[in-house]
Amino acid sequence: MNVVCIGSGYVGSVTGAAFAVLGHHTTVLDIDQNKVDQMNAGKSPIYEPGLDHLINSYIGRSLFATTDYGVIYHADVVFIGVGTPSKADGTADLTYIRLAAQSIGQYVNPDKFVVIINKSTVPVGTADLVASIIEESSNLKVDTHFAMASNPEFLREGYALEDVFFPERIVVGAENIHAKKVMKELYFNVINRVEYEGKSIDFQFSHNPNAALPIYYETDIKSAEMIKYASNAFLAVKISYINEIARLCETLGANITEVATGMGMDSRIGNKFLQVSSGWSGSCFPKDTAELLATSQKYSCELTVVQAAVDSNQQMHDYVVDKIKRKLKTLNGKNIGILGLTFKPNTDDARKTQASVIIKELIDAGARIKAHDPHGMAMFQQLNPALDVQYVSNAIDVTYNVDAVVLLTHWAEYLHMDWSFVKNNMRSPYLLDTRNVLKQGHLHQLGFDYEGLGIHSTKKTTQEFVRS
Ligand code: UGA
Repeated sequence: MNVVCIGSGYVGSVTGAAFAVLGHHTTVLDIDQNKVDQMNAGKSPIYEPGLDHLINSYIGRSLFATTDYGVIYHADVVFIGVGTPSKADGTADLTYIRLAAQSIGQYVNPDKFVVIINKSTVPVGTADLVASIIEESSNLKVDTHFAMASNPEFLREGYALEDVFFPERIVVGAENIHAKKVMKELYFNVINRVEYEGKSIDFQFSHNPNAALPIYYETDIKSAEMIKYASNAFLAVKISYINEIARLCETLGANITEVATGMGMDSRIGNKFLQVSSGWSGSCFPKDTAELLATSQKYSCELTVVQAAVDSNQQMHDYVVDKIKRKLKTLNGKNIGILGLTFKPNTDDARKTQASVIIKELIDAGARIKAHDPHGMAMFQQLNPALDVQYVSNAIDVTYNVDAVVLLTHWAEYLHMDWSFVKNNMRSPYLLDTRNVLKQGHLHQLGFDYEGLGIHSTKKTTQEFVRS
């Protein structure tokens, strides 16, 4: 098929590359000439493990990149994968969606029944909005000249290729018969995992070849749009919940790692997304929970559980800052080294990360901050110009003469640091591991004052707690 993906961000570039690998003639269309040039030079416009290699292998063969909307004329399907950032009131800003729809209307071929698919995370009803904009700018009629579909993306940054080639589910909202047929055809190779052999070398990641084939779930458009928001909000609730339990574990002397493992053995709960952290963040959960809450308020159908998860998440950021304060007594004039600025490892995405909130609170309390991130430093610095942070290009440099090292993102390179060397660099040996990933016993032996979250290093018992 002739596929056009509008947008070369996290969704568009990965989706485009994947369809090209699977044999569709695919063009990624973006108004940003820089990103298009990068793709045409065989480079990924974003940092995502394996994507550079894939784009480099397929560009000019079945993958193309352009700024020219004229490619829409030849398309069988057009994916809209542009950004939907939050507005001040929390609702999704659909400016880029509207612009894309308008341009589709101007260039669509009236003699070709094209299927327009929303892949961006968009509020319920956006397919209707896009259809009406296309109708206005083209004088064509939805379901007579073109059809709409919703196909939300569930890829995780850092694992995007794995998620796109080996998804657990593909959700397609379509009501038009032709659109339903086209969508199934488009995904045929992914649903049946055919023609993967020989190409798997291009995927550049390990996967379980015995993993179950994906479920292809066809539903109506509005439900598909809602599935995406409801899923992200549910995951946010799950993490907020485990983080609250971690806080209680810490107080009572239980161990959150043990607790999460025991809980996860129940298949109704599942063992994923029970990893403690300084709070969830990033470009998806904050934006999607804000939109869902704003919409629910607008329609007087409030989602109090989601609101509680958002509030609890802020408390988790604050909890980390309070913990550092308790340990260092005062933050005035204290030097703190931060490891990790992205919202999770394997991404350069530093939008709305918990690091920005935590660092700001530390600075406001008088601390001086040195920070490192393997891939997210440039974006973090650009997005947080007001934060007075000393950025260092080598992780070890964060640790010189500091009163505390705080690990916020569990990048693999931090797990393998020379901790004995780090210890000797520090003014006082306080190490806060907000992901509980470092080897506690070893660090104690080295003389660190190590703390995790929701685990008790001093082994205070419940009885001792009750007595105190
Ligand atoms: C999330 C969803 O997981 C994807 O399915 C979805 O497609 C994507 O949003 C999106 O809407 O585009 P992503 O934001 O890339 O993916 O990252 P996650 O892996 O979900 O992590 C989100 C945040 O939760 C990170 O800050 C992460 O560190 C945190 N987290 C995750 C925890 O604190 N604990 C966990 O157990 C898991």
